[in-house]
Amino acid sequence: MDKYKILFVCLGNICRSPAAQAVMERIVAERGISDKVEVDSAGISGYHRGDLPDKRMRVHAARRGLQLTHLSRPVSHSDFERFDLIIGMDDANVDDLCDMAFSLEEEAKVVQISRFFRNYKGQDCIPDPYYGGSEGFENVLDLLDDACGTIADLIQSGELYDLGK
Ligand code: 4NP
Repeated sequence: MDKYKILFVCLGNICRSPAAQAVMERIVAERGISDKVEVDSAGISGYHRGDLPDKRMRVHAARRGLQLTHLSRPVSHSDFERFDLIIGMDDANVDDLCDMAFSLEEEAKVVQISRFFRNYKGQDCIPDPYYGGSEGFENVLDLLDDACGTIADLIQSGELYDLGK
C-alpha cells in the first residue's frame, strides 16, 4: 500500500512544523511503522526558505534527543496533490491553507493540530514561540508529543485514512 503522507505546516517552517516533523518521525520509527508513513513540513511564508530550524527550537528539541535538520520551504499547491493530510499549527495556518486549495476535496485534507490533543484538550492551537521565551519552545514540544501520539494511534487503527478523504 502507498505510504500515508502527512505535511505539517506553520508560518515560517523554522519552529513548530520542523519540530512536528521530527517528533512524528521519531514516534513512527519507535512504533515500527516508518514503511507506512511519510512526513514532511513546510511554511505558509517563504521568508526563511533554505534555513535550518531556529536555533532555540533546535536546542530545546536536542534536549529531548531530536535533531532538527529540515530546511525551510514554503507550501506549494503541488503539496495538495502529494499529501493525504495537511496539518496546520493554528487557525491562521488553516485559513491560509484553505485559501490555497483549488477544490473542496483538497480543502478537506487540511486539519488543525488541536484536533489531536488528548492531554491538552483546553488548548486550541500550538502557539507561535518565535517572539517569546524558552517556555514557548517547551510548550511546542509537549503539545506535539501529545498530538503526534494520537496521529500515530489513528494511523495504526486505520482511522486516519477517513480524515481528509
Ligand atoms: P514558526 O515560527 O511558524 O513556528 O516557524 C515563526 C518563525 C518565523 C516567523 C514567525 C513565526 N517570522 O516572522 O519570521
